[in-house]
Amino acid sequence: MAILNVVTEPADILLATAKPVTKFDTTLHKLLDDMYDTMVESEGVGIAAPQVNESLQAVIVLMNIDAEEAEEEVLELINPEIVEYSTDTNVDLEGCLSIPEQFGDVERANGVRVEFEDRFGKTYKLEAIGYDARVIQHEIDHLHGVLFTTKASKMYTPEEMADMFGEEE
Ligand code: CO
Repeated sequence: MAILNVVTEPADILLATAKPVTKFDTTLHKLLDDMYDTMVESEGVGIAAPQVNESLQAVIVLMNIDAEEAEEEVLELINPEIVEYSTDTNVDLEGCLSIPEQFGDVERANGVRVEFEDRFGKTYKLEAIGYDARVIQHEIDHLHGVLFTTKASKMYTPEEMADMFGEEE
């Protein structure tokens, strides 16, 4: 287990399409474990392999963050593909570990259906809605070199963020 260096803008790897994972071996498992530690250390709710300088189709997402009833859940998505988007959307604030101190409003589908593999190569499908769907869409975007700043309808200055959420400590 280790905390990895988080790649920040500008960096070519953040704009590249990541390579499919083909080996579900201990190297992948160590990468995923380290990505998890790095995400927790950085207080992120998701992290994608390109953000730790690995061009691989692998993300970790925290689910049920905003749920009152359900337990928070860590999900590893390997070679994920969004196979269906709901037509209804919502707009909410996003940030990114690779784009420090920048926040903006992004319109996302309310729901997604995702096909993916786990760290052993077993195939799964899942449906996610609301904030979970947002986190999944943001992280999978990273695997295609897409950053939220290119999708944001409005970006906020640090002053505007402070006005909305109070001064940083
Ligand atoms: Co991000």
